[in-house]
Amino acid sequence: MKIKAVVFDAYGTLFDVYSIQVVADNFYPGKGVEIAVKWRDKQIEYTRLITQSDPHNPFGSQYFRPFWELTRLSLEYTLDRLKLDRKSGQVEMLMREYEHLRPFAENLAVLRKIKGLGLTTAILSNGSADMLASAVRSAGMAGDLDHVISVDEIRLFKTSPESYGLVQKFVPVNKDEVLFVSSNAWDALGATWFGFTTHWVNRQGLPFEALTPHPHYSGADLDSVLVSLGVGISNTRHVVVA
Ligand code: LAC
Repeated sequence: MKIKAVVFDAYGTLFDVYSIQVVADNFYPGKGVEIAVKWRDKQIEYTRLITQSDPHNPFGSQYFRPFWELTRLSLEYTLDRLKLDRKSGQVEMLMREYEHLRPFAENLAVLRKIKGLGLTTAILSNGSADMLASAVRSAGMAGDLDHVISVDEIRLFKTSPESYGLVQKFVPVNKDEVLFVSSNAWDALGATWFGFTTHWVNRQGLPFEALTPHPHYSGADLDSVLVSLGVGISNTRHVVVA
């Protein structure tokens, strides 16, 4: 097995970004799902807008704003768009939820098994360093991750090649020796284009993007990453594409 490091996307992959819909639904009955989906879509749209607008600036995008700030702005936009009143403290409470997003149930055990194999483990995320640190801490994952890498320092979000390139600054291995794991199809595609070996966690049974190439591996939950590493048995669908 050539893989030397397993690098995870954070939001959507280790941490469930849609878990905030329960709190959102308490504040705005019947609107929780719509808020969670629009909030996430707008947040990602802002990262792309910013990074695409001046990707060759030597200091990173001049329009860059930390992901934490974009998360707040995209929530504000979502509430405006849905014509929902801000009652006192609700934006703050939703943001607090975002700081402590629930990890998917199997994730901690899978991370520990991967660490136990002697592989390097890391997160590469658009998330700001502080928000990543609190999510990792609340999920009890701090001791199982060798690196938590934020794009903050280069001011370019994923899917810029520079953002994926950050991994090799922390983990000096070849691109194809990195197994990059993401639940976000766009992120799995960007990482495949970059040259990583990739695993798409497809929890919702979605078709992959119509663009090619597809990720090397895919499965329905994080347990399937162990199958890609040749050490696990998963009772969920696992696809080896390459
Ligand atoms: C991450 C988000 C964008 O980079 O999924 O963690």
